[in-house]
Amino acid sequence: MTTPQPTRHRRLRANPTIRAMLRETHLTRADLIYPVFIHAGDQPTIPIPSMPGVSRLSLAAFEQALLGLADLGIPALLLFGLPAHKDALGSQAADPNGIVQQAIRLAKRSHPNLYLISDVCLCAYTDHGHCGLFDANQQLDNDKSVAQLAQVALSHAQAGVDMVAPSDMMDGRVRAIRTALDSEGFQDTPIMSYASKYASAFYGPFRDAADSAPQFGDRRSYQMDPANSDEALREILTDVAEGADLILVKPALAYGDIIYRARQAAGVPIAAYNVSGEYAMLKLAAQQGLIDEKQAILETLIGFKRAGADLIVTYHAPQVAPWLPA
Ligand code: PBG
Repeated sequence: MTTPQPTRHRRLRANPTIRAMLRETHLTRADLIYPVFIHAGDQPTIPIPSMPGVSRLSLAAFEQALLGLADLGIPALLLFGLPAHKDALGSQAADPNGIVQQAIRLAKRSHPNLYLISDVCLCAYTDHGHCGLFDANQQLDNDKSVAQLAQVALSHAQAGVDMVAPSDMMDGRVRAIRTALDSEGFQDTPIMSYASKYASAFYGPFRDAADSAPQFGDRRSYQMDPANSDEALREILTDVAEGADLILVKPALAYGDIIYRARQAAGVPIAAYNVSGEYAMLKLAAQQGLIDEKQAILETLIGFKRAGADLIVTYHAPQVAPWLPA
C-alpha cells in the first residue's frame, strides 16, 4: 500500500521560467489610458496635494508633457478640462474654444498617433458642481442635461478627439451623443460609456483636482449604489443598446465582480477606471513605507485585467509604463 501523494501544484511554480511561461494574465503598455487635467490658467503646473505625482497642467505644459508621454509608450490619454469660468449651464463645456477643445487640437497637431479620449461631463463646468443641469424647481433635469452633453461631445469631436467618454450617468445620453455625432459626420467616433459608475467615496481627490465637488446634495440620484450589481448590468446593457462601443466600470478596486460580470454580459470591450482615491491610497501607503510600491501597483493593475478588463484608466500609467512590455 502506497500512501496517497498530495496533488503537487507547486511543480509548475518551481522556478521563474516556468512561472513566467504559465502566467495567465498579462499587463502591457497597450492596456493603459492616462487621465490628464488641463487648466485654463497660465501657471504651468498646479500640483494636486491629494494625488502625489499628479498635477494640473496649463496648455503649454500639456504640450510639453506630450513628448514624454509618447516616449513612454502610453497609447491613450483621457482628457479633463478645468475651465476659467463656471456657470449654472456649464456653458464652457461645449465652447469650441474651451480648454479641452484647445488641448485636443494642440495634441492632434503635434502627436497625431496619441489616442485622445475626452471625458464628457458637466461637473467641472457647472457652478453647482453637479454632472447635469437643474430645472426651475431645482430638480435635476435629465433630458436638458442630455441635450447639453450631446453638444459637449460634438464639440470634442469637431476639435478632433478620437473617442468620447460620457461620465455623467444621465439616462439616454449615449443615444443622444451617438445621434449628434452621426448627424455631423462623426459616425466613426466611438463612445466609451461610463456605464456603471458608482456613487463612491474614492472620487474625493479627483474632486479636489477638478474643483467639481457638488455645492449641495450629492450624486446619489444619478450615480449607483455600491450595494448593487444587477443594476450595473442593466446600465451596461442599455448603454450598449444605445450604441456604446466600450464600457467603463468605475471605481475598479472594490468592483472586481462588476468588471467580471460586465465582461460576461456586455459583448463589448471593458475598461476599468482605477480612480483617484485608489491611486492616493497606494501612493500614501508606499510613502509611509507600508507596502512595496511597485509590487502593489502591479498587483492592483493585473487584478483588473484578471477580472476581465481590456483597458485600465490609471494615474499610475507614466510610472508603470517603463516596467511593462509594449
Ligand atoms: C466626472 C468624473 C468624476 C471622475 C471622473 N469623471 C468625478 C465624479 O463623478 O465625482 C472621478 C475620477 C477619479 O476619481 O479619478 N463626472
